[in-house]
Amino acid sequence: MFQTLTPQAPDKILQLIGMFNADPRTEKVDLGVGVYKNAQGVTPVMRAVRAAEKRIWDNETTKTYTQMPGEPAFHAAMAELVLGKGYPAERLAALQTVGGTGAVRMAFEIARMANPGTTVWVCDPTWPNHLTILDFMKLPRKSYRYFDAQARAVDFAAMIADLQAVQKGDLVLLHGCCHNPTGANLTLDQWGTVADLLAAKGAVPMIDLAYQGFGDGLEQDAAGTRLLATRLPEVLIASSCSKNFGIYRERTGCLLVLGDAANRAVTQNTLGFLNRQTYSFAPDHGARVVTTILTDPELRRMWEDELEEVRSGMLGLRSQLAEELRRLTNSDRFDFLAHHRGMFSRLGATPEQVEKMRTDSGIYMVGDSRMNIAGLNTDSVPVLARAIVAAGV
Ligand code: LMR
Repeated sequence: MFQTLTPQAPDKILQLIGMFNADPRTEKVDLGVGVYKNAQGVTPVMRAVRAAEKRIWDNETTKTYTQMPGEPAFHAAMAELVLGKGYPAERLAALQTVGGTGAVRMAFEIARMANPGTTVWVCDPTWPNHLTILDFMKLPRKSYRYFDAQARAVDFAAMIADLQAVQKGDLVLLHGCCHNPTGANLTLDQWGTVADLLAAKGAVPMIDLAYQGFGDGLEQDAAGTRLLATRLPEVLIASSCSKNFGIYRERTGCLLVLGDAANRAVTQNTLGFLNRQTYSFAPDHGARVVTTILTDPELRRMWEDELEEVRSGMLGLRSQLAEELRRLTNSDRFDFLAHHRGMFSRLGATPEQVEKMRTDSGIYMVGDSRMNIAGLNTDSVPVLARAIVAAGV
C-alpha cells in the first residue's frame, strides 16, 4: 500500500538546516530556523532549567503516568504566566501538549469538534505550518492581510477591512507577540479594535503565543492576549515553552481554552479526550521543569533574569544591524529592523536577492527573507549588513 504515497513538499524552514550544515564555508551565518543562539553560536540550556532538572532528578520517585490532560499544577502555572494573576479559573480549561505546535493542532481539533463548519482566518503572512496543518486537517481557511511589505509594518487598515467578512463561529488566528515571520506587531490600541470587531462578529480568537518574553518583556508580550481574554467570551490560546525556556526538544506546550463557566467541565473533558486519541499522555519532563521554575521564587528570578538577557541581546543586535545599514546605505530605510520585535524580521528582499546572499556570502535566511535575528552575533552583523547591500536589497 505504501506505493500510493507521494513525497510531501519539504518544510522550507527545516530544509535550510540541512543546506546550512552542508555548506563548507566557515564564515556562513544561519538565520533560518527560529532557535536562539548566544554569542558563541550555542543554544544554551538555561541556568534555571539546569537547576530545576537537578532538583527533579534528586526528588522524583516515580515515572508512572500523570493525568490525561496534563498536570493541574502545570496548567495553573501556565495560566498565570499567560493570563496573569487572578485569571478566571472558573471559565478556564487547559491541556498539556506536545510543544506549541501540539497546542495549535489541539486548538484546531477542539474548534472543529465544537463547530464542524468553522473557517479559520489566518494572517498573510503567517508561520507556514499553520497553513499546512489546516490543509492536512481539511479545515477551510481564509486569509486576512496583515503586513505592508513596503513599510515593513502592520497594515492595520487592510487587516480590519478583511476581518469584516468573518462569520459567527469562525476562528481568527492571531500571533500574540513577536509575529512570525514579519516581526511587526499590533499595538495595544489595535488589539482593542480587534477585540471589539471579533466580539461584534461572534468570532473566536485563537492566539498563538510562541515567543512570550522575547519581544518587550513577559508581561508586555501577553498584554494583547490578556485584553482579548477579558473582553471576549471564548478564546483559545496555544502557548509554547520551547523558546522562552529554551527547551525546544522537550516538546512542552499548553492549550488554554476560555469559555462559559457552565461549559468548563465538558471542555476540560474534551481536551483530555483529544490527548488520549492522539498520543495519550503528553510528555512530562519539560512541563515539570517549567512548573518547578514558575512556582519557585528563586528559580523563577533566575529564569526571568536570563530571559531578559536573551531579549535585550536580541534588541542590541537589532539596533546594531539597523545602525550598520544606516551607515552603509546613508539612509534610514532599514530602521524598521530596530522597531520589529522578537526573533524574526522580514527583510523585504526578493527570492533572487535571498539566493544571492546565500551563494555569495553564506547567509542563510528563509526564501521570503525572514531572518532569525537570534542567529546573529556582534561579529556577524556587519557581514550580514554588507551582504544585504551587495545583494541590492
Ligand atoms: C520557526 O518558525 O522557525 C520555528 O517556529 C521553528 C519551527 O518549528 O518552524
